[in-house]
Amino acid sequence: MGWTRKDLLSMRELDASEITLLVDTAASLQEIASRDIKKVPALRGKTVVNLFYEASTRTRTSFEIAGKWLSADVINFSASGSSTSKGESFIDTAKNIAAMSPDVVVVRHSSAGAADLLARELPCSIVNAGDGAHEHPTQALLDLLTIREKKGHFEGLHVAIVGDIAHSRVARSDIHGMRKLGMTVTVAGPPTLIPPYVQELGAKVSYRLEDAIGDVDVIMMLRLQQERMRSGLIPSTREYAHYWGLTLDKLARHARPDVLIMHPGPVNRGIELSPEVADGPYSVILDQVSRGVAVRMGVLLLLAGRRSGEAA
Ligand code: CP
Repeated sequence: MGWTRKDLLSMRELDASEITLLVDTAASLQEIASRDIKKVPALRGKTVVNLFYEASTRTRTSFEIAGKWLSADVINFSASGSSTSKGESFIDTAKNIAAMSPDVVVVRHSSAGAADLLARELPCSIVNAGDGAHEHPTQALLDLLTIREKKGHFEGLHVAIVGDIAHSRVARSDIHGMRKLGMTVTVAGPPTLIPPYVQELGAKVSYRLEDAIGDVDVIMMLRLQQERMRSGLIPSTREYAHYWGLTLDKLARHARPDVLIMHPGPVNRGIELSPEVADGPYSVILDQVSRGVAVRMGVLLLLAGRRSGEAA
């Protein structure tokens, strides 16, 4: 089956064959990173606008690199320094950018539903690069690609997602994607950071780190999103780190020797992960970042290529 959607807004809306197509397309593009000349003509003449209203290191940079490696013209918009500071609304800004005929707009915004709004209002393709605590589908896709590259398959794997589940768009997108591909997901964290919806999505729940990490193939550690958090959800970051921070000692005592440690970034060293775990032999955190470029190339290729029937 080929790609037919105008937009990529969420993992919830995709079925297993669409997720597999996205992961397979990304996998086929990975070798471009090892070429001497990292450029293919697939999206020559196409324009990609990165419309970022929230901070980003990995997502924005990798979409820019991905677009450039595919020969698209890539324009980076950030709210600071734009007419947003003069009072222009989000939707007016987006409509003005759409009037310049981009093929794809990649949007990050602090409000859930921001990408859906643009998809309804604008004729170009929209990619959700993170909307509030809702979804971050390309992060889930790069997590899936990393897991398949390291473990060889999806079906039957067990993943523990640990930490601030309540404020995490990555957790929501990962749960949707992993469950659709036949994986078991356990979420773990303090009760105040576990929302009730996770069980409806088919995830198991654990309130003890040592129990959650005991029999899993992958441990996905999440950042405490203090910028989205009301006060009183955790006693202190020090106490959180004591109970929920992953150390080499806890891994050695409770986890399997072949476990993968993942984290979407940015990492708060010493809170959710000790530096020895972040940089240690179990960690594939930088592999995730590398695969992010391939995933974003695949997404841009399928969305922009859909319009003209172009292939890589
Ligand atoms: N994982 C992730 O979305 O990182 P950035 O916020 O740096 O884009």
